[in-house]
Amino acid sequence: MTSAQFDGKAVIVTGGGTGIGRATARAFAAQGAGVLVVGRTASRLAETAQGLPGVRPLVADVAAPGAAEMIVGAALDHFGRVDVLVNNAAVVRRTPRDDTSGRQAAGQMVATNLLAPMYLAQAALPQLATHAGVVVNVSTAIGQRGWPMPDGGLYVALKAALETLTRTWAVQFAPHGVRVAAVAPGPIATPIAQHQGLDPGQAAALRTALIAHVPLGRIGQPDEVAFWITQLARPEAAYTTGVVIPVDGGAVVA
Ligand SMILES: NC(=O)c1ccc[n+]([C@@H]2O[C@H](COP(=O)([O-])OP(=O)(O)OC[C@H]3O[C@@H](n4cnc5c(N)ncnc54)[C@H](OP(=O)(O)O)[C@@H]3O)[C@@H](O)[C@H]2O)c1
Repeated sequence: MTSAQFDGKAVIVTGGGTGIGRATARAFAAQGAGVLVVGRTASRLAETAQGLPGVRPLVADVAAPGAAEMIVGAALDHFGRVDVLVNNAAVVRRTPRDDTSGRQAAGQMVATNLLAPMYLAQAALPQLATHAGVVVNVSTAIGQRGWPMPDGGLYVALKAALETLTRTWAVQFAPHGVRVAAVAPGPIATPIAQHQGLDPGQAAALRTALIAHVPLGRIGQPDEVAFWITQLARPEAAYTTGVVIPVDGGAVVA
């Protein structure tokens, strides 16, 4: 897609070095936006930005203290404004209660998947309010239908909390002219399973199990999620706020 729908606008995409975040950053850039891609791994961000002068990488841990202000400040340095915030970065960790590392993993998930989007939205609000901006949160379809996750229910619970924040912010930010929405992807072909520490065999087994719950019978592609994220940010969506759009091959209605 090469329209100039987002010409002159500035977008922050967290977790923009891989998967859905990379596809989203590229989709916004292809439509004219300047995009700040945020992640912890410089090489991944550089790959996202390759050949796209409008995409600027920022190596940062969204869960670090002060990260939200720093990220918004970097977007202002590069582009002078912020129109869209995409809260996409997340981690999936097992959290056994009888294990110190499990407690640490739980803390990391809370800080990355929930607190970071919250602080970023707060830090970006003055800019978003200036430009009739939009926040798009990335949730998950499995939170809406229930899914067994050994030691892993926290991931789903945090996504449910993010959806609640989506509705809360939609009401709270509306007087500022800021819209808030979310997408809830089903199984999407990204490196998320490797990032969870699954080996290729485990990742394939998980994928097969997930696809069994998808009426369309296949895994989704990152571009298919990026499409809806960009649609929600378009001015034509100006009467849409507080929604969570499933992008899951029908999993949530099966
Ligand atoms: N793939 C699916 O099937 C699926 C389904 C439903 C929902 N989702 C959601 O979609 C979103 C994107 O996931 P994905 O599938 O594209 O997986 P992914 O490739 O693992 O993407 C997650 C990204 O977040 C970044 N990240 C993680 N922790 C970070 C931190 N503290 N600070 C900055 N960046 C951080 C990672 O990069 P670094 O490690 O380099 O920082 C990575 O690029 C997530 O919110 C996920 O929960 C995915």
